[in-house]
Amino acid sequence: MCGIVGYVGHRPALDVVVGGLRRLEYRGYDSAGVALLDGQGGLSVERKAGPLANLEAKLAQVDAGRLTGTAGMGHTRWATHGAPTDRNAHPHRSTAGDVAVVHNGIIENHLPLRAELEAAGIELTSDTDTETAAHLVALAYAGADGGAATKGDLVASVRAVAGRLEGAFTLLVTHAAEPDMIVAARRSSPLVLGLGEGETFLASDVAAFIEFTRDAVELGQDQVVTITREGYTVTDFAGEPVGAAPFRVTWDLAAAEKGGHDYFMLKEIEEQPTAIADTLRGHFIDHKIVLDEQRLSDQELRDIDKVFVVACGTAYHSGLLAKYAIEHWTRLPVEVDLASEFRYRDPVLDRSTLVVAISQSGETADTLEALRHAKDQKARVLAICNTNGAQIPRESDAVLYTHAGPEIGVAATKTFTSQIAANYLVGLALAQARGTKYPDEVAREFRELEAMPAAVAATLQNLDAARALGRELAGSKAVLFLGRHVGYPVALEGALKLKELAYMHAEAFAAGELKHGPIALIEEGLPVIVVMPSPKGRAVLHAKLLSNIQEIQARGAHTVVIAEEGDETVRPFAEHLFEVPAVPTLLQPLVSTIPLQVIAAEIARARGFDVDKPRNLAKSVTVE
Ligand code: F6R
Repeated sequence: MCGIVGYVGHRPALDVVVGGLRRLEYRGYDSAGVALLDGQGGLSVERKAGPLANLEAKLAQVDAGRLTGTAGMGHTRWATHGAPTDRNAHPHRSTAGDVAVVHNGIIENHLPLRAELEAAGIELTSDTDTETAAHLVALAYAGADGGAATKGDLVASVRAVAGRLEGAFTLLVTHAAEPDMIVAARRSSPLVLGLGEGETFLASDVAAFIEFTRDAVELGQDQVVTITREGYTVTDFAGEPVGAAPFRVTWDLAAAEKGGHDYFMLKEIEEQPTAIADTLRGHFIDHKIVLDEQRLSDQELRDIDKVFVVACGTAYHSGLLAKYAIEHWTRLPVEVDLASEFRYRDPVLDRSTLVVAISQSGETADTLEALRHAKDQKARVLAICNTNGAQIPRESDAVLYTHAGPEIGVAATKTFTSQIAANYLVGLALAQARGTKYPDEVAREFRELEAMPAAVAATLQNLDAARALGRELAGSKAVLFLGRHVGYPVALEGALKLKELAYMHAEAFAAGELKHGPIALIEEGLPVIVVMPSPKGRAVLHAKLLSNIQEIQARGAHTVVIAEEGDETVRPFAEHLFEVPAVPTLLQPLVSTIPLQVIAAEIARARGFDVDKPRNLAKSVTVE
């Protein structure tokens, strides 16, 4: 959460920074701000509560002469400490105004630091944890904290202050007296460096600078990085130089633009066939499933006797689906945990346990901490992630990347279906290692997965009625979702999409539970969306769900049914029927999810909401 961008180069920094913030706004949009170094000792800060557009309107009023310079930084905020107001917007400055700081994360010991600063007579002007860092750096740079080694040395000052901070943070720091550099410190929050010709970038995400360069550098934990026009240096918090791994970003600016759609989310829904195909590509070589990174031996994989899947939100729903596939293909027991609950319930883990951490961003704090807990208990950790070089894959023993490309809409869509594909690849990799499937069976399952992009593309061709239904349901107070077997996680995901996008009460149930309580919710006109199993693949469950639909219809429910093409038995009970292609049972979620995404987006649009930026949410949740 929070997006950060820093630039030292030859272009007008304001344009680069504001352009970068535009692409990082998915990380938070409570306020935005910029700090610009004019190269002659001037440091200007402008900030404004609300989305970036508010800041841009303010910048348009400001004397342009003040906002010149080719070095600067910016911030788009998802508020943690302090309300989303102008005074709490970043950048925060020292009392003399010569130091500016932007921050992503939480400084957990900010209260004692605040007390220490106040005792020294410094007046803090915001409610944020971040402001403490600005004052501490200013004191260190001035040598006023007794630190002779930091006096007049911005890098040493930032290092010294970073060493005092607890919690998770990425800090970018500028000093008016150092107009040609930005110094950053990083612990457990994302930061990536971009390298251009005579220009260097820092950002929470490569999307911020992809327009200018695809050459990036991964930064590690507890590191301080200094950027100048000429390049960069990286040290640890003790000042020892450390290496950093360059990489080339595989997607470009066009992938991060809306491509003719009103919202990124709508474009991302359309991109699902490509995202799934790209996720599968290159993972079946010489008749074997291969992961992207594997620091586990075949023997270690064979020794696995239990699997836990940990994830949050949509990624958790994909994890629920992983359970069906992994148990079916490997006969290993699989538990799926909300990452935020995992370590607090003291799960039974040892070196023959595999923990699969699923995260689009690779930086979700709950998932990262669950992974760290698993590693402390000697479990093996495999990450499924959409972000190259993020913290979760870096700390894992094996990695499979979903190659969904950048997902800017805050609600996960293409990364959900890509995660499902990746989960199934992991299931097949385990089945292959353990010999619970013959090579030709693994090959057959993979071929079936490979056919899915076409099935998803066919589903996408047929969504006008789903859009119309979305508009029709916009006035509803609540919507229920029912599913069974792999249709149940799909129902959960459908309900989550509706909650987060349309701010509507939405609840999903395993249909077998209906008579154990939830049926009491059914009343005249209540929309109930049912994800039907295949009448061929899951005939027994299909029959049971058919009875459930009749029961709720008899009680006045407005029935909306997602069913396999040619499933005529359900037609008489469906007021709205959406057909999806017939595919193997485990793969049905890849198609049945699509109409639910579209219905949720359409309801939200009809209610007048911004589907890319739902209220109160941020794309990546880097605080617990
Ligand atoms: C919902 C959504 C969230 C994320 C969750 C985990 O549309 O996007 O529920 O799925 O916050 O995020 P990652 O996958 O980045 O760990």
